[in-house]
Amino acid sequence: MTSTILCTCARSIAPYLRTEIEQLGYTVTKEHASGIEIIGTFDDCLRLNLHLRTALRVLWRMDAFTADTADQMYRSVRNIAWEDWIPVDGYVSVVSSVQTPTIDNTMYANMRCKDAIVDRMRMKLHQRPDSGPRTDRTVVFLYWHNEQCMVYIDTSGQPLSERGYRKHPGKAPLRETLAAAVLISTRWNVKGHVVNPMCGSGTLGIEAALMLRNIAPALKRENFGFMHVVPFDRARWDTLRSEALAAIAPHTEYSIICTDHDRRVLDQARENARAAGVEEDIDFRVCDFRETPIPSTEERDGGADMVIMNPEYGLRLGDVEELKLTYAEIGNFFKQQCQGYLGYLFTGNLPLTKVIGLRASKRIVFWTADLECRLVEFELYGGSRRSD
Ligand SMILES: C[S@@+](CC[C@H](N)C(=O)[O-])C[C@H]1O[C@@H](n2cnc3c(N)ncnc32)[C@H](O)[C@@H]1O
Repeated sequence: MTSTILCTCARSIAPYLRTEIEQLGYTVTKEHASGIEIIGTFDDCLRLNLHLRTALRVLWRMDAFTADTADQMYRSVRNIAWEDWIPVDGYVSVVSSVQTPTIDNTMYANMRCKDAIVDRMRMKLHQRPDSGPRTDRTVVFLYWHNEQCMVYIDTSGQPLSERGYRKHPGKAPLRETLAAAVLISTRWNVKGHVVNPMCGSGTLGIEAALMLRNIAPALKRENFGFMHVVPFDRARWDTLRSEALAAIAPHTEYSIICTDHDRRVLDQARENARAAGVEEDIDFRVCDFRETPIPSTEERDGGADMVIMNPEYGLRLGDVEELKLTYAEIGNFFKQQCQGYLGYLFTGNLPLTKVIGLRASKRIVFWTADLECRLVEFELYGGSRRSD
């Protein structure tokens, strides 16, 4: 049996998610601002959950219909064969995105949708699952915009950015899925050294290590929405995991260097890396960003050595004045110490990108929540190549 599978992502990430999905061998049927659709089997949902680095959720479509009122929506949801999907002794929660004229309270739509599900199951099986707000068991997602309704099982449950390795949140960490998209958007191409001064909780270095060693991003996760539906085949999941484990490269031929001047932060980054299984692949050092060792660079066929930095953005005016100096110093560091590398700066403070004092070869737009960010690329050619 096949259905529409919608892989969702944060704003601006869809093109990278599309590439990932195509690389896994699927044909994209639709691209949305924050999601990619394919047609596939439930088994494909397991694969996608395991391998996608930039997706937030993998949604399995149960039905699509039109509804103007809550009663109409209730009736259509009650027609779905939930008894084939939700364990009768299980637990279900309904989450939604509702923007339709007759509903001004999303909670009401969720409640009617949940009622339709449990009423159906009581009718068919004379028993009903528990229900509530927890999203760590069966999760149903109701999308209802104008009269268009789509009902999905959220096969991820909790977002895929929760990889299971973040032991410490850090001060202003990049979301794992965003860090992966940023890395995919560069010309590094998983072929070359990755130098990450100001690494904070280590997200960029850890995600780079996972890519370089071909480690599936969700291998450390123990719970997914798909585990809480009737068709879930534990043996099949074990096989997919074993295949992914067998595909891991024992080490990476490239250097990954993560530095930060805050010892406590760096210890936390190391612990996160240990939890992700890549501590050995990353050279962690406590130092000012200007002291970061830069390995000697060489021509990479289809890739590049890169230095990537995510400095603070400065939320208050005073901070920004101080940061101007830091950004100017980053420019000097790129120019003087990173020759032969591609330099990347990721920031949510667009005016500060001008202070770098280098000509950008590319500016890529990203969003973190409601903040417009830029990944700015600098080609740091010229001069003699440096070795450490
Ligand atoms: C925005 S955070 C980086 C967040 C990181 N991308 C993550 O995902 O956790 C910026 C980091 O730069 C570090 N930092 C600030 N000034 C520095 C300097 N002069 N040298 C080295 N690290 C610095 C801070 O300690 C902080 O951890």
